[in-house]
Amino acid sequence: MSSTFGNYLRVTTFGESHGKAVGAVLDGFPANVPLNDGDIQVQLDRRRPGQSSITTPRNESDILRILSGVENGKTLGTPIALIVENSDQRPNDYSTNALPRPSHADYTYMMKYGAAASSGGGRASARETVGRVAAGAAAEIFLRERFGVEIVAFVSSVGGIDAPVCVWYDINTPPDNSDKNVVNSIDINTINKTGVDQNPVRCPDQQSAKRMEEFIKSVKDDGDSIGGIITCVCRGVPAGWGEPVFQKLEAQLAQAMMSIPAAKGFEIGAGFASAAMRGSEHNDLFIKKPNGLGTQTNRSGGIQGGISNGEPIYFRVAFKPTATIGKEQKTADYQGNETTLKPAGRHDPCVLPRAVPVVESMAALVLADMALAQTARQNC
Ligand SMILES: Cc1cc2nc3c(=O)[nH]c(=O)nc-3n(C[C@H](O)[C@H](O)[C@H](O)COP(=O)(O)O)c2cc1C
Repeated sequence: MSSTFGNYLRVTTFGESHGKAVGAVLDGFPANVPLNDGDIQVQLDRRRPGQSSITTPRNESDILRILSGVENGKTLGTPIALIVENSDQRPNDYSTNALPRPSHADYTYMMKYGAAASSGGGRASARETVGRVAAGAAAEIFLRERFGVEIVAFVSSVGGIDAPVCVWYDINTPPDNSDKNVVNSIDINTINKTGVDQNPVRCPDQQSAKRMEEFIKSVKDDGDSIGGIITCVCRGVPAGWGEPVFQKLEAQLAQAMMSIPAAKGFEIGAGFASAAMRGSEHNDLFIKKPNGLGTQTNRSGGIQGGISNGEPIYFRVAFKPTATIGKEQKTADYQGNETTLKPAGRHDPCVLPRAVPVVESMAALVLADMALAQTARQNC
């Protein structure tokens, strides 16, 4: 079951990096949701390789085909099969597969399965995330249509260059971004995908984005790679989603995010910073809001007790530097003999810009699953 995720809405992804195709089967998706290839293609285009000089040059157009579950632009309630054919396969780029790539998944896959895809990381490749993004885009549409939920992720840090993100401010003192050309602080209550896509880094603060882009280029010129952080906000989630105790909303989000290749850290709300705060500094005080009770600040990140509280849900995901680099690396073969790994294969110098839609998609799959769980509970 390791390639299947979710309870009420179940996604199964399939396909290897240099095999014939990748994709997903989405089961449990409600009927009569408007859905067509174009809606999903938008998110796949944001994930696809070859988008800019700071992503891998692998040339895949990633054209989606919906094989089942949708008719006349509406879902049927039956399994939705989503497929993308691989066109730019170059298995020979990985003829060094005899050597496990440092900090990639070659060694561990071989130890676990005793077999490995002949090239390019197989299921451990980011190519697997095509299925997640296709399925997640459909889940995002369901959430928007039925509940008005909006999910936006963006790059908030690259190699220690931090964009000014404003997350847990007091609603009485919001950030002043009146000059739209200068974003003093990215406000997670208003940020949207168009703002995020204004530069190839997908950081909505133009000044930070420029510095990040230059840094990624210089790291790439050095034949190296760099990591960073993606921040994600989910707005419009009603109070009551999340299934304590083992399927608390933040626990499901953490699992979903940590299943993304190269993800190395997850933080909800004030997260690790809360460890240094006093209760009087951290507590989100209740106030009256148009739809009922709300909070004045949002250090909890929209979740308390594993259940959404109606405030925006926000979290951060840390990504490591890409394992495949353009430098020679001293390493060992499977027998333990010292050797040198020559640079080979195409790779992303920084996975962050392409990981943005992957984070949004995994968030959508979790929230849609929780929405259906809560609906089932309420209908009993
Ligand atoms: C969008 C995206 C693109 C990626 N591109 C590459 C890449 O070009 N080269 C590489 O070595 N790893 C890349 N990765 C990460 C590897 O797939 C990942 O590091 C590998 O499977 C090992 O898993 P782990 O880092 O989670 O332990 C990418 C990850 C994502 C999310």
